[in-house]
Amino acid sequence: MSTIGILAALQEEIATLLTAMGPDVVMRHIGQRIYYEGRLSGRRCVLVLARVGKVAAAATAVTLIREFRVTVVVFTGLAGAVAEHVRVGDVVVARTLLQHDLDARPLFSRYEVPLLGRSYFDADAQMVALLSECANDYLGSDLAGEVLSATRGAFGIDDPKVYCGTIISGDCFVCDTSAVAVLRSALPDALCVEMEGAAVAQICYEYGVPCGVLRTISDRADDTAGIDFTTFLTQVARFYSAGILTRFLMHCSSQGR
Ligand code: ADE
Repeated sequence: MSTIGILAALQEEIATLLTAMGPDVVMRHIGQRIYYEGRLSGRRCVLVLARVGKVAAAATAVTLIREFRVTVVVFTGLAGAVAEHVRVGDVVVARTLLQHDLDARPLFSRYEVPLLGRSYFDADAQMVALLSECANDYLGSDLAGEVLSATRGAFGIDDPKVYCGTIISGDCFVCDTSAVAVLRSALPDALCVEMEGAAVAQICYEYGVPCGVLRTISDRADDTAGIDFTTFLTQVARFYSAGILTRFLMHCSSQGR
């Protein structure tokens, strides 16, 4: 049976999933990461804290693929909104991902990954469909209703939505209104910004492994993003990750993926 690799940058993003793996989980320490092998919703999974940034995420994805032979990779976490219509509490499922800080001009065109001849890396189409279905189902569920009504006021979450499209990644936490405006005009298709997804998507492309990236919007990448991100991370993030990924894994089991 196939194995699903699940990565997140920070502990809070996978805390609930880790608890759900139960006491039979096997821990392996490789390259200063702990890989948790076990079952979630009946599926064989390897859960790992990748840490922050593209190098950390890429290194962890390679280990999942080569050491643990995972057949599917999913990254879950938070992101800052870039598109005007994307709001805190919305969920973005990547259809395609790009490294917004990659610039090897004049040798290669802006954003192009040298010697790979491409800037965008696609998520697996079936994963996009399934993750969006699970995110919609989660946001419409009673549990999400409870969680969101407890936090709605604090975060201004109102009628959260699921979007599929472009996620951009770079090795910087964007917390400046003018920086996000620059990103918006340079990359008008970008829905949100984070620090790992495109690196994981590139590794999955190179190894031919299907990849999915799921992000909950924690902030608007503006001057208060640092505070907004931290509050969202500690109070809300784990509910989204666990609620959506538990549904995803149950579907994978029933589809035999
Ligand atoms: N992850 C969550 N919010 C972010 C931001 N504003 N910039 C980069 N990564 C993020």
